[in-house]
Amino acid sequence: MEVCVVGVGYVGLVTAACFAHIGNTVVGVDDDREKVQRLLQGEVPIYEPFLDQVIAQAVNEGRLTFTEKIEDGVRSCQIIFICVGTPPLEHGEADLSSVETVVQRIAEVAEGHKLIVEKSTVPVQTGFWVDRTLQLYGQKGTAEYDVASNPEFLREGSALEDFLHPDRIVIGVEMIRGTFSCPIHQKCPQAGNVPFLVTNMASAEIIKHASNSFLATKISFINLIAALCEKVGADVSRVAEGMGLDPRIGRAFLNAGIGFGGFCLPKDLQAFVRIGEKHGCDLRLLKEVERINEDQINVFVEKLRERLWIIRGKTIAVLGLSFKPNTDDIRFSPALEVIGKLLKEGATVKAYDPKAMAKAQHVLASVEFCNDPYDALDGADAAAIVTEWDEFKRLDPSRVKQKMRRPLIVDGRNILDPEEMRSLGIEYCGIGR
Ligand code: UDX
Repeated sequence: MEVCVVGVGYVGLVTAACFAHIGNTVVGVDDDREKVQRLLQGEVPIYEPFLDQVIAQAVNEGRLTFTEKIEDGVRSCQIIFICVGTPPLEHGEADLSSVETVVQRIAEVAEGHKLIVEKSTVPVQTGFWVDRTLQLYGQKGTAEYDVASNPEFLREGSALEDFLHPDRIVIGVEMIRGTFSCPIHQKCPQAGNVPFLVTNMASAEIIKHASNSFLATKISFINLIAALCEKVGADVSRVAEGMGLDPRIGRAFLNAGIGFGGFCLPKDLQAFVRIGEKHGCDLRLLKEVERINEDQINVFVEKLRERLWIIRGKTIAVLGLSFKPNTDDIRFSPALEVIGKLLKEGATVKAYDPKAMAKAQHVLASVEFCNDPYDALDGADAAAIVTEWDEFKRLDPSRVKQKMRRPLIVDGRNILDPEEMRSLGIEYCGIGR
């Protein structure tokens, strides 16, 4: 099949690369000329495991190309995925202006039959507006359209795996005029057993926001329980283990810590609350989920303050800058908020992250960026673990102790063993344990 992917950010680039990888011919479109040029020169602008290799192979084999001219992609492909950004506006609702612009452009240049698939995370009823915009702006043309919603469930850090081995494929449609088959089902034998759910458009759109909001709810729930665990001498990790053994609950997303970040969970949660308001439905549970999450940053900084007494003048090693491991994405990363608070209080911050330093250097002034974790720990009064990179799980405790001015670790991701740390003479403090 010939597939056009409009918008090659995180979702679009992974989508384009994976569709090409499984044998389709893909045109990736983006109006960011510099990004397109970099991609054409073989440079991948984000870090995502294996993405560079998959792109390089598909480009070399002539199945993947990039352009800034949307008309080239639209004219040559029958299926067009819309993957442009939907960033939050001031009050949290999604900015859909890029989606509208792309749909108008498609309507202006398309000929023949096209299937337009919305993959960007969008509020419910966007599909309706996409369809309407195509009809309104395509009046002069000869094109005929089908519109579908196909929400993505890609996790950064394992996006390729998630795309090629999905746990479900959701398609929202009102009425399909053409005949299409699912490329993932066709090309990946393992995908034969993947649940394939066809719903109407509104349900598919809600599935995306409801899924991310539910994941966020699990995290805030366990963070709330963590606070109680601390008061009564329980260990939240064991509590999560015990709860998770019930298949109705499940262990995933019950890791207590500094809270959720990234460009999906916080923004989708906020957008969902706004969608509820717009339709006269108070999603108050989700407002609380958001409030608990925002508070986790304060909980974490308080832990440092309780142990350091005075933060001003102290040197704090921040381990981790990305919002989660295996990505260089720092958008809405808890690390940035923690660092902002520490700097405001007069601390000296030394930071290290295996992948996110280049991006962090653009947004963080007054931070000393270090070559490795031990360099960051050198002379520090405390270490703040903010991202659960494997590299931090393997830290050598005796070297940590020897490097630090005061061996104090505040572990915002509960990745180290409290007993082991304490037995080695390291003052250790996790979340809810
Ligand atoms: C999320 C969804 O998981 C994915 O399905 C969707 O399509 C895009 O949004 P992603 O943003 O990559 O994916 O990150 P995710 O793995 O969901 O983690 C989000 C945040 O929650 C991270 O900051 C992570 O550290 C935190 N988290 C996750 C916890 O604090 N505790 C947990 O138990 C799990």
